[in-house]
Amino acid sequence: MTIAVIGTGFVGVVTAAVYASFGHKVFGLDIDQKKINKLKKSQVPFHEPQLEDLLKETQKKNHLSFTTSYQEAIQSADLIIVAVGTPSTIDGGVDLKYVFACAESLAPYLKSEAVVVVKSTVPPGTLDLVRDKIKSRTKTKFNLASLPEFLREGSAVNDTLHPDRIVIGAENQTTFELLGELHAPLKAPIVRVRPESAQMAKYAANAYLAMRITFINQVADICEKSGADIEEVISAIGYDKRIGAHYWYPGPGYGGSCFPKDVKELAHFFKQMGKTDNLFVKINQLNSHRINLLLTDYGRKVGGFKDKQILVLGLSFKPNTDDLREAPSTKFIPQLIKLRAQIIAFDPVVKQKTAQAVFGQYLESGSLIIEDELDDLTNSADAIFLLTEWSELISLDYSRFRNGTKPQWLFDIRNRLNPVQVRKWGFKYQGIGRQG
Ligand code: UDX
Repeated sequence: MTIAVIGTGFVGVVTAAVYASFGHKVFGLDIDQKKINKLKKSQVPFHEPQLEDLLKETQKKNHLSFTTSYQEAIQSADLIIVAVGTPSTIDGGVDLKYVFACAESLAPYLKSEAVVVVKSTVPPGTLDLVRDKIKSRTKTKFNLASLPEFLREGSAVNDTLHPDRIVIGAENQTTFELLGELHAPLKAPIVRVRPESAQMAKYAANAYLAMRITFINQVADICEKSGADIEEVISAIGYDKRIGAHYWYPGPGYGGSCFPKDVKELAHFFKQMGKTDNLFVKINQLNSHRINLLLTDYGRKVGGFKDKQILVLGLSFKPNTDDLREAPSTKFIPQLIKLRAQIIAFDPVVKQKTAQAVFGQYLESGSLIIEDELDDLTNSADAIFLLTEWSELISLDYSRFRNGTKPQWLFDIRNRLNPVQVRKWGFKYQGIGRQG
C-alpha cells in the first residue's frame, strides 16, 4: 500500500514510521521545510524513545521518505492520513483550520478511490466538512474515514505497535476492509463503528481518564486531612475489578497536549447545546485550580516563598518526553517566581534550549536557572519540588541535596518517594494525600 501521512508532529511521525515498518511505502508530508530536512536525516524534532531507530531502519529500507510536496506524496497514495494539529480556540472550542487546509491542498492530487483518513482529534460531524472541502477542489471519487489515535507520549512507538484496540470509523465496507488490512499485523481488536462514534470515542476515552485522575486527586485531598493514606486507599479499592488499581496516581492534576484540551472541548460542545453546567466544566475547573491550591499549602509550610531557593526536579509534563505543554512546571515556576522565589531546575531531557520558548523571560531575568547536570545542583535549597516522575529522579539519593544547617522540605507531588527514607535523609516530607 502507498500511504501519505500529512503532519509530522508527534502522531504523524510515529504513525508514518510504524506503517513503514510493516513494509508499506510511506510519505511523511509537512509544509515545514525545516522539520522535513531534519526528518530526512532521521532526526526527530522532539524526544520520543525508540522513534529515531525506527526512522533510521525504515528510511534505510526506502520504505519511508519525507517531503513538502503535496503532489509527490498524494498522487500515488491509496491511503492519506491527516494527522495535523487541532488547536483550541479561545472559548475552548476546536479550530479545524489545519485539517481543512490539508483537505483543500490534497484534493487536486487525489488518486481515484483513495481513502482519506482523519486521525487528528476532531468533533463528530467533521468528515462532512472535510468532504465538502475536498469536493470543492476535485471531481475524483474518494472515501473518508476516521481513525482516532490513542498513543501516549513517552511510549508512543510501543503503544502504536501494541494498541489495546484500533477504532475504525468508516462509511463503507471497502474502507473498513482496507483499514482492517493495514492494521492486521498488530493483532489488536478492531472496533468498526460509524465515523461520529470513532471521533466521540477519542474524546470520551480521554475525558474519562482525566475524570479518573481528578477524582483520585479529590479523594487524596480528603485523605490528607482525615488521617487516611491515598496509596493505601488505592490498594484497597483497586482489587475491585470494576475499578482497578491502575491509572489514577494522584498528583498535580493532568497535563499534556490531550487531556486538558479534550475536556475543555467537551465542555464547549455542551455549552453550545445550551448546557453550561456539565461534568466537563467541573473537571476542567478542579484540574486548573489544583496547582494553586497545592502552592498555597506548600507556601504555608515553608513560611512563604519570598527569597526562598527552590530546587525543581522535572520540567516535562511526564517522563520520557520533552513536551512542556500543560506541564506542572509551567504553572509552578511562574507562580513561585511571582512569589519572589529563586528557582534552580533540572530535567533529564528538557534543557535551556527547549525551555527557552516557555521560560525565556525567567531564564533571562535570572530568576530561573536550568542546570544541565544533576551534579551541578545545589544543596542549599529551602525546598525541593519533585514535579515529574522520571526514573532517574525517583531513584536518586536525595541526601546529596541535604544541607545540615537548615530545615528543608521535599514536596513529592507524584508520590514516588518513600516518605520514611526521605525523613531519614533529614527532610520534611509532603506527598499527595499520604500520611507516610
Ligand atoms: C493521553 C492518553 O493516555 C492517550 O491515550 C491519548 O492518545 C493522548 O493523551 P498522554 O497525554 O501522552 O496520553 O499521557 P498520559 O500518560 O495519559 O498522561 C496524561 C496526564 O495525566 C499527565 O499529565 C500525567 O501526569 C497525568 N496522570 C496520568 C496522572 O496524574 N495520574 C495518572 O495515574 C496517570
